[in-house]
Amino acid sequence: MSDTVTNTSEQPRRDFLQTATTGAAAIGSLPLLTESLNAAVHASGDDVLKIALVGCGGRGSGAAAQALSTIGPVKLWAMADAFRDRLDVSYGSLSRGLEKRYDRDAADVGNRVDVPEERKFVGLDAYRKAIDSGVDVVIITGPPAFRPIHFEYAVNAGKNVFMEKPLASDPAGVRRIQTASEVARQKGLKVAVGLQRHHQASYVEAIDRIHRGEIGKLQSLRCYWNTGNPAKRPFPHDGLTELEYQVRIWYFFTWLSGDHICEQHIHNLDVCNWNMKGHPVTAEGLGGRQVRTGREYGQIFDHHAVEFTYADGTKMYSQCRQIPGCVRQVAEFAHGTDGVADLSTVQCSLTNGDQTIWKSERKAPNPYQVEHDVLFDAIRTGRPHNEVQHGADGTMTAIPGRMATYSGKRVQWQEAFDSDLRLTTDAEDWNAPAPILPLEDGSYPVAKPGTTKVL
Ligand SMILES: NC(=O)c1ccc[n+]([C@@H]2O[C@H](COP(=O)([O-])OP(=O)(O)OC[C@H]3O[C@@H](n4cnc5c(N)ncnc54)[C@H](O)[C@@H]3O)[C@@H](O)[C@H]2O)c1
Repeated sequence: MSDTVTNTSEQPRRDFLQTATTGAAAIGSLPLLTESLNAAVHASGDDVLKIALVGCGGRGSGAAAQALSTIGPVKLWAMADAFRDRLDVSYGSLSRGLEKRYDRDAADVGNRVDVPEERKFVGLDAYRKAIDSGVDVVIITGPPAFRPIHFEYAVNAGKNVFMEKPLASDPAGVRRIQTASEVARQKGLKVAVGLQRHHQASYVEAIDRIHRGEIGKLQSLRCYWNTGNPAKRPFPHDGLTELEYQVRIWYFFTWLSGDHICEQHIHNLDVCNWNMKGHPVTAEGLGGRQVRTGREYGQIFDHHAVEFTYADGTKMYSQCRQIPGCVRQVAEFAHGTDGVADLSTVQCSLTNGDQTIWKSERKAPNPYQVEHDVLFDAIRTGRPHNEVQHGADGTMTAIPGRMATYSGKRVQWQEAFDSDLRLTTDAEDWNAPAPILPLEDGSYPVAKPGTTKVL
């Protein structure tokens, strides 16, 4: 990619972690590392890549099906979840071949599931048992709060990883991920991050064209994740410890999900960062919890609007809202001196006034499948593959954004990144205290701009 759009921001941590690829399109042009790093990493000693699934929810089941649909012998070997019922649903769906297989008709997902009772693990410590069960690849798809813990353990155990976004819910978690990623790189382990737009042909081509200057110099960016309610639902508290309850409805607690600005809007923030080749340096914004206010919805906001500024002064205007009955839009826009890019998972286009500069095809290989194809190919061939940098940048854009809406203050990226803020817990016992406790009326503390301190 050319550097028509430059980001002059100082990113001292960026040198700390050099990534090897950003997308499927990059396969043929990757730099070679030393021979020892290029050695394919297998535990089994044969061609079969054994997989552990940690976090057997909706995405975990989908990711496992995609991993099992890659080319070459693969087996789902172990499964881990905080809760038995979640694991059972996932196992049932995968072993009966009911999970979506996307582009691979030939792959028989169900026949590639080999998880007897003794390799099904439940509880907050289940991840360690699954990772230690003799696997080559770990799929990490639990709540973001646990991502740094699970990733660090997998890397220390010498495993290749696919992990979902966001990478953490707090700055301490992002730093922990980056440290483990550096170890992974040194060990030659392959790491994929579920920001699948990097593997969607329309996005890859659109952003390449933007980088080549087809809409001129970028002036500003806008991005949106405005929808109705998410698929996540409340759960009865009866008989559960406080920690167990919060993990059950993890989406609605900031320490677990990072709030929906982090959980979902990260996709759009990541695309803006990709355009800008870096992360913003400040964030200021507003947000609140106006419609989804019941205690059964924990403590996260239902809307955030943030103005981010990159080091060269370029602005990125971001909105995310989860309120039914409002305008729905999930997309990103880049405004340049010579045109506008309109980016979405349906179609991407570049225009200049009434003139279409370029428009993507509507149909292309499914990026969720492609990201696994790329990872498994890297594992089999020894090609370097590590997607942590843009995952960390995206996460560390959303977190300062949230800090800005929670506090009502202007947040400096560096200060946020360096801060001691740690929201999560390493506890592995359901009786351990939850990081957030309910108030006297049973509701949970909600951030109040102007009063809440985030740094
Ligand atoms: N890239 C994408 O487009 C995409 C799409 C959906 C979800 N995701 C991401 O995937 C992650 C999971 O989302 P989901 O929709 O599958 O949620 P989910 O609630 O369906 O699944 C999460 C699973 O993790 C389990 N879990 C909780 N704590 C755990 C722990 N400590 N150890 C092991 N398992 C634990 C839960 O019981 C649950 O089964 C989220 O971070 C989300 O952002 C990404």
